[in-house]
Amino acid sequence: MNALVKRGVDRITWAGRGMPVLGSIRERWQKERPLEGVRVAACLHVTTETANLLITLKEGGAEVRLCASNPLSTQDDVAAALDEVYGVATFAVRGEDRDTYYEHIHRVLDLKPHVTMDDGADLVNVLHSDRRELLDGVLAGTEETTTGVIRLKAMERDGVLECPIIAVNDARTKHMFDNRYGTGQSTIDGLLRATNLLVAGTTLVVVGYGWCGRGVAARAHGMGARVVVVEVDPLRALEATLDGYWVTDMEEAARMGDVFITTTGNINVIDTPHFALMKDGAMLANSGHFDVEINLKGLAAMARERRKVRENVEEYLLEDGRRLYVLAEGRLLNLAAAEGHPAQVMDMSFANQALCVEWLVTKRPSLERKVYSVPEEIDREIARLKLASMGVRLEKLTPEQEQYLASYSLGT
Ligand code: ADE
Repeated sequence: MNALVKRGVDRITWAGRGMPVLGSIRERWQKERPLEGVRVAACLHVTTETANLLITLKEGGAEVRLCASNPLSTQDDVAAALDEVYGVATFAVRGEDRDTYYEHIHRVLDLKPHVTMDDGADLVNVLHSDRRELLDGVLAGTEETTTGVIRLKAMERDGVLECPIIAVNDARTKHMFDNRYGTGQSTIDGLLRATNLLVAGTTLVVVGYGWCGRGVAARAHGMGARVVVVEVDPLRALEATLDGYWVTDMEEAARMGDVFITTTGNINVIDTPHFALMKDGAMLANSGHFDVEINLKGLAAMARERRKVRENVEEYLLEDGRRLYVLAEGRLLNLAAAEGHPAQVMDMSFANQALCVEWLVTKRPSLERKVYSVPEEIDREIARLKLASMGVRLEKLTPEQEQYLASYSLGT
């Protein structure tokens, strides 16, 4: 075993220790083999946690192939270990160019999948454009992330979605934990690994106050940052205000921030007029799925010079002498500059993925070409298993309390 593969195996094993819910599914599947004969094509971030999911699917009897869902998130030791030790054909290299990225999606689709597993909907997109001949064989797919679910719901709305998709992101045991606590912690981790910045006393602007933004804001606040939130939705802006943050528009925030982190899923939320207002030395990063949130082309056009100053930090020297720093090329900071969400939170996300695939292939529900939520019983079962794995005791309703909740006659 070469050093890269050994490192991958050690790190995959370590992550597996933090994934007891997925581990319990894996143990059951080793006996029951519910996925025998099922082909799964997965396009996910190639991390130690994903490796544990793919190994679980394989031990459940599935034939699996994996490619990356982002060119900068692949952990090469994990890809090597999956391929060489665990028998999971993996098509991913960190830093792969656009052509290679799409070539790898094609190699995964060559499996002729029954089930697709996506993070961002690139796989389903290629399936619906260049590889339509495979659509007949696809039973259904799963989607991991908010951005992917938005794209798939748009396809459903336009009547072009050709297979059912389960929106794993919509499970509460996914977005309430992975998006909030996972993105919150791993984004700060990426910021620290890239810059070694002292967060305390820093003005940190979070753009977007969805589950991810809430998590980043909470963790930055906990480390002593002055957190500023930019949000377009009045309810979320109100929530951020009552959570105690300074809430304002992008123009004012641009003048205030030392660090900017985007979590909106939208395009050009930090744009050229904002760069013109920023302080010398401001740092720009993104934790949304795609690298579109910061207008990097616009920034490049304003720059007289660009140079790499640290791993994952690029300096843009503007005409007026100010320097702005872009972290991880504007790609997902938590996966490009750190290791992604911790295993303990991916445990729930990937337990959802695993149980949804099992539900699809064993129950064979009659599904239309729509985006579906995760069945409620799967969501609740994962919450119960996670609590049990953490040694947390759950209170039970007494029969009297159950009756009280079901009645309307008892009042003051
Ligand atoms: N998305 C965010 N963090 C991740 C991780 N650790 N593995 C796979 N996908 C992720």
